[in-house]
Amino acid sequence: MMKKDAYRTKAKTLLRKSKRKILRKLKMEKREPEGDKYYGDKAKHYVRKRKKQKKWHRENEIVRDLLGQLPDNLRVLDVPFGTGRFLPFYLEKDFQVYGLDASEDMLSAAEEECGEGFKKANLQIGDASHLPYEDQYFDIVVCARFLTSIVGFGQAKKVLEEISRVTSRYALVECKLKKNGKTAWPGDEDPIGRNITYEDMTDIFKSFGFSVQSSSAVKSNKRGDLLIFFLKKVN
Ligand SMILES: C[S@@+](CC[C@H](N)C(=O)[O-])C[C@H]1O[C@@H](n2cnc3c(N)ncnc32)[C@H](O)[C@@H]1O
Repeated sequence: MMKKDAYRTKAKTLLRKSKRKILRKLKMEKREPEGDKYYGDKAKHYVRKRKKQKKWHRENEIVRDLLGQLPDNLRVLDVPFGTGRFLPFYLEKDFQVYGLDASEDMLSAAEEECGEGFKKANLQIGDASHLPYEDQYFDIVVCARFLTSIVGFGQAKKVLEEISRVTSRYALVECKLKKNGKTAWPGDEDPIGRNITYEDMTDIFKSFGFSVQSSSAVKSNKRGDLLIFFLKKVN
């Protein structure tokens, strides 16, 4: 009798687990790029909500540390600029700062967040896949929280092409990566999500003229990693 009960409990647990797995998969399949959501309240409360995330602080730590390894007085483009979270780090390094974002509401939130520093940044509204800057105009381009969930894979590749065109030396790019197994190549309209392996992502960077100098983990779990890549332009 006891054995029967134990089997029943085990079966129930397994059922619950697989149900959860299927639901997660369905949710992931349904996931769409989130690029057009950063307006109104989402923009207004963006920083307040993100500050509660451990990964927000870890990202800041990594970016500040990587920038610290570079010379002062560089020209940086932050795309998408969002609320200007990295602006104080650029100013610490006497960088000339440029930022571009599709949402005027995010740039208004940046004005609220950045105080005096805001005036030092050259900001504009635009599309990351059509950057309005000359070839190699920047020493470094920073791209956080964008490529793997905000746009589809097709657009993400266009953005990488643009980043590569406008930077002459470096890029910091944040990506989610798949930990085990092979890449599940996304369609051009689908967000990359956690579907591409480290090796394949490295090849993608390579195809856009970058070599990976380092990658720093923002977050890791059994499903994958969230990394900030320090990329160097290969001429
Ligand atoms: C998750 S936020 C990231 C902002 C910032 N990089 C950060 O780390 O907080 C995504 C940003 O992408 C912007 N965005 C969405 N589509 C865009 C596009 N095609 N070109 C430029 N910015 C875009 C949104 O307005 C939003 O500010």
